[in-house]
Amino acid sequence: MNAVLVGLQWGDEGKGKIIDYLCRLSDVIVRFQGGNNAGHTVVVNGDKFVFHLIPSGILRKGKICVIGNGVVVDPKVLIEEITALKKSGIAISGRNLKISPFCHIIMPYHRLMDALREQARFRKIGTTKRGIGPCYSDKIARCGIRMVDFIDPKIFLQKLKDNLLEKNAIFRKVYGVKGFSAAGLYQEYCQLAKILKPYVCNLSDYFYKPKDKSFLFEGAQGTFLDIDFGTYPFVTSSSVIAPNALLGSGLGFVKLDKTIGVAKAYTTRVGEGPFPTELDGKYLNYFRTTGSEFGATTGRPRRCGWLDLVLLKQAVRLNNVSEIVLTKLDILDQLKKIKVCVKYRLTDSEVGGFPCDLSKAKPLYKEFNGWNSSTQDIRIFKDLPKPAKIYINFIEDFLGAKITFVSVGEKREAILKKPVKG
Ligand code: GDP
Ligand code: IMO
Ligand code: MG
Repeated sequence: MNAVLVGLQWGDEGKGKIIDYLCRLSDVIVRFQGGNNAGHTVVVNGDKFVFHLIPSGILRKGKICVIGNGVVVDPKVLIEEITALKKSGIAISGRNLKISPFCHIIMPYHRLMDALREQARFRKIGTTKRGIGPCYSDKIARCGIRMVDFIDPKIFLQKLKDNLLEKNAIFRKVYGVKGFSAAGLYQEYCQLAKILKPYVCNLSDYFYKPKDKSFLFEGAQGTFLDIDFGTYPFVTSSSVIAPNALLGSGLGFVKLDKTIGVAKAYTTRVGEGPFPTELDGKYLNYFRTTGSEFGATTGRPRRCGWLDLVLLKQAVRLNNVSEIVLTKLDILDQLKKIKVCVKYRLTDSEVGGFPCDLSKAKPLYKEFNGWNSSTQDIRIFKDLPKPAKIYINFIEDFLGAKITFVSVGEKREAILKKPVKG
């Protein structure tokens, strides 16, 4: 069984926790897009791991983790992540971590460009400033440095010089800042390339023969941060939706059996851009504090809002979602009333549809009773309070896709299997 798992909102839906749970059933876990803008949290026996580049399956013994060609890799961050995991006793080598030679490398000039562009923008995007956008721009402009170039010192030096010729001129002339020395960067980054070389593996060749392996593709970000279908320009620079899993991994010969969509029981967003169900005041405060809604990568406070089913329905379509995992139900435990957006008002006379410009959407809500009791220790679906089951069943019916698991806490074991409705 091969599956893709994607976020259905604006990221931080709890993908890391669910990958860690579901990957028991897979042999290979694959990141296929994004970079260290992602922060995927897994909590095991009180220890918190936040993954930025390495798939969240690395904690399970015997799994092969893959960083596909669609990922942009900051070598420093990846090496830090490998080192930290080794320190915690997790075995990592080229046997269980494989990196595509076609990944593009994030260089310090990408990070600087990301920060300078963001500063200069009249309407900020709120990027993570990790160099993601500039690195993907270079990939498409065909001047990027791929992993295969990076680990070949001669090619690396040539490409670095070519890039700096143009980039340093932009830094100096457009932004009035100092650029980078090719010699300095070359020396420092050649050392990093040596460390990463043993992990580089031609994935299409390696995985083509053993047809018996099962794959779990780990999406980063969320559907509405997608470069094409998200709330452009307030998006990330990659295609985050499920159809990109095969392209971003070079594993086109793998047959996908299902798409799992992860959705939070409410909505959050980090960075700028439209957010129809966004809350302020006491509810914002409630979600942010109860749900610890602070970015796993940048630490920025997340914007919070009610669950938006119109948005989720669009995400179910775009990803062809066959199963949904609902996370953070426990964060609703103390609310007396819970609202869910079931329609958008687009103009004074027009209701419905998913608009091309989400900033035009005004949410219309349906209200549910809360349950005012803790769900964190519940492990069997039928033991959930009745109003919680009503809430979950309504979501399932509205979306027309089955909810298979409900997560009720950050711990690995805080998850319930939802029986299929009869
Ligand atoms: P990701 O980027 O989608 O992997 O999500 P993040 O790791 O950025 O953010 C999700 C946060 O919620 C993390 O701190 C998780 O430990 C936490 N989390 C995941 N599922 C649950 C849940 O069901 N309940 C609670 N309380 N926390 C959860
Ligand atoms: P995970 O995988 C939440 C957001 C940034 C910003 C926009 C563009 O943990 O769900 P970028 O640095 O990608 O150019 O920033 O995208 N963003 C995320 N928000 N979770 C993420 O990843 C995100 N990755 C990027 O906050 O609004
Ligand atoms: Mg995250």
